[in-house]
Amino acid sequence: ETAQKSGYKHYMLKEIFEEPSCVAATLSGRIKSAKVHLPEIEELQDLLASSKTLKVVACGTSSYAALSFKYFLENLSDVCVDVEVSSEFRYKRPNFDENTVLVAVSQSGETADTLESVRLAKSKGAKVLAITNVVGSTLMRESDHTLLLNAGPEISVAATKSYVTQLVLLYLLGLKIVELRDQWNERCTKLIDSLLRLPEVLDATLSRAEHIKEVALKYKDFQHFMYIGRGLGYPTALEGALKLKEISYIHATAYPAGELKHGPIALLGPEFPVFAIAPFDALYAKMKNNMIECKARKTKLVVLTSDDCEDVREIADDVLSVNSFSEQLYPVLMAPVIQLFAYYIADALGHDPDKPKNLAKSVTVE
Ligand code: AGP
Repeated sequence: ETAQKSGYKHYMLKEIFEEPSCVAATLSGRIKSAKVHLPEIEELQDLLASSKTLKVVACGTSSYAALSFKYFLENLSDVCVDVEVSSEFRYKRPNFDENTVLVAVSQSGETADTLESVRLAKSKGAKVLAITNVVGSTLMRESDHTLLLNAGPEISVAATKSYVTQLVLLYLLGLKIVELRDQWNERCTKLIDSLLRLPEVLDATLSRAEHIKEVALKYKDFQHFMYIGRGLGYPTALEGALKLKEISYIHATAYPAGELKHGPIALLGPEFPVFAIAPFDALYAKMKNNMIECKARKTKLVVLTSDDCEDVREIADDVLSVNSFSEQLYPVLMAPVIQLFAYYIADALGHDPDKPKNLAKSVTVE
């Protein structure tokens, strides 16, 4: 087993450090002449070019990758991306028809609720596109089309490299949809360029692991954590909170930062730290106001930002940062940081992050 972990203490750590090469594998052969090349979905092109709405189902971490896709694609095109957790979708009135494309995102391809959602969609004539990591999985067999993550086997119960590669593959799908709808512009060309640079920039993020560990260890004894973010920072906040709670057993919750005043801020105080996702993007000024409101409640504040953001140091207790990069791709760059933060806390508390209590790698029963 030690050999399989390649010298890393846990699979989770190994899989986080594999992210740059996994992303390279996900991208491989899928960008040609500065456009996205996805022959697997050729038959879906007409529907993707014309449908007003795209439905997406997933559970857990995969559902947060799907939510990130929603922000990404709605920002670049006129498509409405309707994301739902599979356990809700499968029991709702199926308000769709044969002109619908349902994207089902599942690392394992064996998640019971996602499979049932696919069966429901197919029974109504919808076309199903699977995004999965496992060749020959039930999801792949039952879907009309499949895009594979090519991330290699993920052993740790905590999804890490599958989340990062889901984001990358969903963004590629998003750009393809933009092209099919004739909405391609200069921003998209730039995004292609940035996607190609991701493996190298992710390496740079991972080179900061020691600093992330130092910060994480300061927070290991808190009982609660609140993650906040806006825009693309919001799905990242949700995933950060999920990672922390599932492997460290610290209660962690996540909100869109603008919701604080609608209730959650009542919880904050010296014993309830905040983890803010606040890159120096179009929403930074709004995030800064929210962070100041948190500090006024005497909370400890960890901020995950980008290197071009100077003034956050005035309000944060601790700053974690990633290279200044494409605003749309911060969810990818920030993923290893939220994962390592949770990992180092879980390990310091003596928990095995590869096998968290009460959890299975794939949830094959309802
Ligand atoms: C992630 O760390 C979790 N263990 C869990 O939320 C997982 O993402 C979820 O069960 C969905 O799994 P799937 O992607 O294999 O469908």
